[in-house]
Amino acid sequence: MTVPYAAPLRALHWTTAGLVLALFAIGWAIDFTSAAATRKLLLTVHQSIGLLVVLLAVSRLFLRSRLGVPRPVQGLPRWMDLLSRATHAAFYLLMVALPLSGWFYTGAKGGTVRFFWLVRLPRLSPADDGWADFAFEVHELVGFALLFLIGAHVAAALYHHFVRGDETLRRMMPLSPRLS
Ligand code: HEM
Ligand code: HEM
Repeated sequence: MTVPYAAPLRALHWTTAGLVLALFAIGWAIDFTSAAATRKLLLTVHQSIGLLVVLLAVSRLFLRSRLGVPRPVQGLPRWMDLLSRATHAAFYLLMVALPLSGWFYTGAKGGTVRFFWLVRLPRLSPADDGWADFAFEVHELVGFALLFLIGAHVAAALYHHFVRGDETLRRMMPLSPRLS
């Protein structure tokens, strides 16, 4: 019998997926915005949601260790199982590394990171153009790596559902997944 992911893990998965996609949209929207006030607003929203992603990723790792995750679906080849585990581990790593590089970049640029206008966070680096350029490159590069991983992950989920016809996608569905 296949069991679904625990409800809190499913809720966190889809909330995080939505927030991460919004972060890409906002990150690129900043490039096309010239009005200073709008840029500032978008930046604060981008930074705050980015930090929220770290908090959610860490909470999720904790919850996942408590609640456990379902075993691989029946008949899954070993290499597919290993590849999916490696992808999921990489997701958790990038969901922490990408926001950290953005936080580092903002400090190196001489800016301040605010979490939803509530808390001012300390700088992770002194203001320095060299460090800022480096951190931005890292932010961009890690961003592309995450985007690539998301593309592969969605393709794999659709492959499981429509080609293999297994329950991989269904057991992650947010509302009462129907499983055999
Ligand atoms: C999972 C989390 C995040 C994702 C997916 C993400 C993604 C992006 C993307 C796609 C860009 C546009 C890059 C470009 O112009 O080529 C960007 C820019 C930027 N991000 Fe992030 N980001 C995240 C978290 C953060 C965090 C936590 C901070 C700061 C605390 C941050 C600060 C910035 C800054 C300052 C820019 C440059 C905006 C500009 O002046 O053009 N990001 N981000
Ligand atoms: C439409 C987009 C997405 C679909 C259809 C999707 C689908 C799935 C499915 C079916 C699983 C379960 C895999 C399994 O049981 O082996 C899963 C797990 C996972 N997904 Fe996604 N996903 C999407 C977007 C994302 C995004 C944007 C992220 C991260 C930025 C992400 C991160 C993860 C992680 C970390 C897991 C492993 C959960 C765990 O075991 O703790 N997913 N996803």
